[in-house]
Amino acid sequence: AVIRRSDYKPFAWRVPEVSLDFALGLEETHVTAVLAVERNPQADASPTIHLDGDGLEPLTVKIDGEVATSWSMEGNDLIVSLPGDAHQIEVTTKINPSANTALMGLFASGGMLCTQCEAEGFRRITFFPDRPDVLSVYRVRMSGPKAQFPVLLSNGNLEAEGDGEDGTHWAQWHDPWPKPSYLFALVAGDLIANSDIFNTVSGREVALNIWVREGDEGRTGHAMESLKKSMRWDEETFGREYDLDLFNIVAVSDFNMGAMENKGLNVFNTKYVLADEDTATDVDFDGVEGVIAHEYFHNWSGNRVTCRDWFQLSLKEGFTVLRDQLFSQDMGSAPVKRIEDVRVLRGAQFPEDSGPLAHPIRPDSFREISNFYTATIYNKGAEVIRMIRTMAGEEAFRKGTDLYFDRHDGEAATCEDFVKAMEDGAGLDLTQFRLWYSQAGTPKVSVRLTHEGDTATLHLSQEVPPTPGQSDKQPMPIPIKLALFDRDSGEHRGEQLITLDKAQVSLSFDGFAKPPILSVNRGFSAPIVVHRDISSDELVFLAARDDDPFARYEALQDLVVGHLKDAVDGSLDDAARKDARQAITSAIAAVLADDTLDDSMRGELLVLPSESYLAETMLVADPGRIHAERQSLRAAIGSALEPEFTAVYQRASQVPYSLSAEARGARKVKTQALVYLAAGNPDLAATMAAAQYDSANNMTDRQGAMMVLCGLEGIERTNKLIDFYNRYKGNALVIDKWFALQAGSMHPAALAHVKALADHPDFTMKNPNRVRSLFMAMAYNPQAFHAEDGEGYRMIGDFILALDPINPQTAARFVPQLGKWRRIEPGRSALMREQLERIAAAPGLSRDTHEQVSRSLG
Ligand code: ARG
Ligand code: ZN
Repeated sequence: AVIRRSDYKPFAWRVPEVSLDFALGLEETHVTAVLAVERNPQADASPTIHLDGDGLEPLTVKIDGEVATSWSMEGNDLIVSLPGDAHQIEVTTKINPSANTALMGLFASGGMLCTQCEAEGFRRITFFPDRPDVLSVYRVRMSGPKAQFPVLLSNGNLEAEGDGEDGTHWAQWHDPWPKPSYLFALVAGDLIANSDIFNTVSGREVALNIWVREGDEGRTGHAMESLKKSMRWDEETFGREYDLDLFNIVAVSDFNMGAMENKGLNVFNTKYVLADEDTATDVDFDGVEGVIAHEYFHNWSGNRVTCRDWFQLSLKEGFTVLRDQLFSQDMGSAPVKRIEDVRVLRGAQFPEDSGPLAHPIRPDSFREISNFYTATIYNKGAEVIRMIRTMAGEEAFRKGTDLYFDRHDGEAATCEDFVKAMEDGAGLDLTQFRLWYSQAGTPKVSVRLTHEGDTATLHLSQEVPPTPGQSDKQPMPIPIKLALFDRDSGEHRGEQLITLDKAQVSLSFDGFAKPPILSVNRGFSAPIVVHRDISSDELVFLAARDDDPFARYEALQDLVVGHLKDAVDGSLDDAARKDARQAITSAIAAVLADDTLDDSMRGELLVLPSESYLAETMLVADPGRIHAERQSLRAAIGSALEPEFTAVYQRASQVPYSLSAEARGARKVKTQALVYLAAGNPDLAATMAAAQYDSANNMTDRQGAMMVLCGLEGIERTNKLIDFYNRYKGNALVIDKWFALQAGSMHPAALAHVKALADHPDFTMKNPNRVRSLFMAMAYNPQAFHAEDGEGYRMIGDFILALDPINPQTAARFVPQLGKWRRIEPGRSALMREQLERIAAAPGLSRDTHEQVSRSLG
């Protein structure tokens, strides 16, 4: 059934208080839920209460303490007749956490019990109005064998605990903050904590605990530092203080997502908690810091102010992603973080926005909400709020967020509430801007500069492409930062912010004797595709001189994208190809030589546009040709600049390991240099990579070397893979890397490797991290996934069908790759479609996968 935003109705009942009692067992857990309910004066009255369930059977139902018969099942849901205005409903259920391979609701992971309730997992635990606009105060009592579950946690504060009979014990938790069911959490297991204390700005003391399995505690230091930094930053930057005496984080190995912001009890994928230099890369360290921040920031943007319904998901996710991005900008290099975030947006969100799964950041309908935890809701959602911030300025933006938190504290709010608060608090008129919430599709903006006398005129036009269900689009207000460079002095006269709010706009600038050079969408001020009429010489100028780091990066990217597009569509003769490669090579040489750049920024500038982003810039893409041309360009640069890359490599190798920005930058540049050298001179690179592997004293260097070796033929590849496995066997997160390195490699036999690895004793369909490390890595490895004979598509098709009955939510996440068929050359396109049709025809498909497949087929 399709659920529509326009059908929203407030729930007929309120549930001000809930008490839950859990008798815990891995195979059998008994749940007794007592709901205090009363009529909601803001809703139409109803003689019954509709309680959502999913795979549950009510063992007993009581109303006001008496066993009741006035109830019935409607599909999965429990309907209870209620004669009066206020009642107490008690329902008992029995669940089997060990059989819960979907990892939604209460499930077992490595001998412990834990929950994941967002979006609709609570209904797999007990019958409840499982919707975010029903807010309750929870009291949770749980009991279980003390030896098996020495630690018993839930939301809020521990009220009481004690020992029972026969080696059992119990604990009682109380969360004073009303919350929706999706924020409920429970954890029971044999865990130990890294504990610390945080003193809030108003002087309250908060006990912090990061709970992990014994043996992992030595890898929690970075997570704890990240948490304390996040707490301080949110006080200083958004005026948000923590509101309980206790903050618990638990790391779980089997988890569908990154982490979950349950009130006072965040549950994390171990990947975003555990890190030390021997087992985690610099990128992993940043992942931990970013996700810890993200979940912590949800305490205000998500928990204190929650969502009215799931169509408003971006209200909490887009805003919280922006908040974690701004935090990470402040913790490290702001320009580098911006480039990374744009790369994610372009790699993941742009393809979504231009394909069959395109949806606005506030969708109008869905079948399965789990399918809408997308790059559009999260990352484009963050960009939309970032534009509001850009237009308002930092100070006014803060006034807007203050008003938003103040006005809606304790409420379930809407995106419209947020926009209104921004208008009232920040003093903006966002009437037209609301289109960013309702229209899907990435706007295309064309920019052309003309020059006459001493006047330069900028001609801007926009087009928002049609998307499924939205054929006609209105022009959106697009904030664009720009600067005009004088070509002689190399200077500009200051950055300007303009808003393109019509289909076409022309703007004149006086005082330019010669045509200026345009730097546009500086800082990536809007999430758009810019088509600019600009020469390679001007791009080379900007790549070397633009004072906006993002614009500088962008100029170099555009130079490469422009060339590769020409190369792929066959419109280049040998001379033109040579010229273009020369221009790119000298721009890269300039980046290597420029000592005003720090290594971290230099590393970013060296990264070639990804194959998926390149495909995105073409109407119909030929993945085989994109891969070949990109690789051949890389080889040409690598051999032309072999001495330069070798020199940079050697310089960077001198920097000793630390987590300083300088040392991290050096490692990034080092790996990039190796990647170019591997393309240009594979034998040399193999020797260097093997030596780097042997001498590595940290995972960044070791993984970088292994990554390069995995793409090359030869005995070193095998030797180091064996060494890597033996060195880290037993460490699941590092063995995940071992799988991913092979599945994501440039090796021509990558698909055969994946097939063999699927039979490896360490592979399991039951662990989402392992599944992603093998099959996600393959599905996002263009040269493997897009194998011309369709073998990659077939393997993903088989895999989706095999995973769907076990873990539908994760299975459905693989469908969008096949959903790109419309924009791929006809031969492969037909093979991709064939797989989608095969999946669609399979009996008993989950709602998750079914929705994704049918939308993908269109
Ligand atoms: N709210 C969590 C986060 O962004 C993610 C929950 C994902 N839920 C899902 N059904 N995929 O931090
Ligand atoms: Zn989130």
